[in-house]
Amino acid sequence: MERKERIFSGMRPTGKLHLGNYLGAPQNTVDLQDSYESIYTPVDIHALTTITSPEDTREIQPNIYEMVLDWLAADLDPERSIIFVLSHVPEVLTLHTLLSMVTPLGWLMRVPTFKEKVRQMSETEESVNYGLVGYPVLQTADIILYKASAVPVGEDQLPHLELAREIVRRFNNMFGDTFPEPQAKLTEAPLIVGLDGQQKMSKSLDNHIDLAATPAETNKRVLTAFTDPQRTHRSTPGRPHLCNVYSLHKLFNPGEVDTVYQECTTASRGCVDCKRHLAEGVNRYLEPLREKRREYENRPDYVKDVLTEGAQRAKAIALETIGEVQEKMGLALP
Ligand code: TRP
Ligand code: SF4
Repeated sequence: MERKERIFSGMRPTGKLHLGNYLGAPQNTVDLQDSYESIYTPVDIHALTTITSPEDTREIQPNIYEMVLDWLAADLDPERSIIFVLSHVPEVLTLHTLLSMVTPLGWLMRVPTFKEKVRQMSETEESVNYGLVGYPVLQTADIILYKASAVPVGEDQLPHLELAREIVRRFNNMFGDTFPEPQAKLTEAPLIVGLDGQQKMSKSLDNHIDLAATPAETNKRVLTAFTDPQRTHRSTPGRPHLCNVYSLHKLFNPGEVDTVYQECTTASRGCVDCKRHLAEGVNRYLEPLREKRREYENRPDYVKDVLTEGAQRAKAIALETIGEVQEKMGLALP
């Protein structure tokens, strides 16, 4: 039987997922489990590239736990797929170091995300951690240690994937064909605008709805959503095409969309009511996932067992690759 193509999906451990990143990553990648051999990884080492205090590191473990719970609740299947934490298979660090020998510094300094991070952290290119400069080399190592050929990512990651292919080409040229060139698999996720009605849903902007929120919390948050700014009175007709609550109805309350449109434009529905209905839709949509999540939460060792087993399976692949690389780079005993 032909071996299935492998995908590697890495996500920074930022804790509970919200609606925006759920529709972006897990929901799309869940379907990929059938056609690919899939690996899902909270990339804890990458999280260390931007730490500024010990507090940041204290959040890593709880964040991994919450994220993996959401993944499992979203139907990532630990039988079919490998789910493991990046640092639990430290061979990635060996590969990172070896790849750093074939990666010109100039390539790394030109990566747009690098310049942006330096700015965000109020650092300079001289003062910034060595680890941050090498972030894309580590990301390349994550992927190719498992010889993954496809990587589900959003558009913001395209420069990293481009660089990964350049590193692979250089390695293969120097030492012989070893790694496949990883291709970005753009997730066709709808862009979810947050409750502020302005920007992409994100935790840092606090305009999000957690997947694991209770129905009451969801309701409360949805009620804070911004609507058509010109609809200052209940009797003023609204403009649904300018209201994010309406866009969210399309996703989470599809059966009601036409009614929302009609009643909003004729002022026969108020915004508060409209938001209540939206919250109901979101809660209905998330209930099965929340139910599953609760089941896993009640099995204290479940996540740990999944990650332990995942790391064992990942390690077997990693050792094979490292052996091959050591041989090609002249590091193996004759
Ligand atoms: N850089 C990615 C991000 O910020 C996370 C990541 C790290 C990743 N390693 C990866 C994504 C490997 C895909 C494959 O979103
Ligand atoms: Fe938006 Fe609904 Fe209010 Fe219309 S009624 S402006 S769609 S919240």
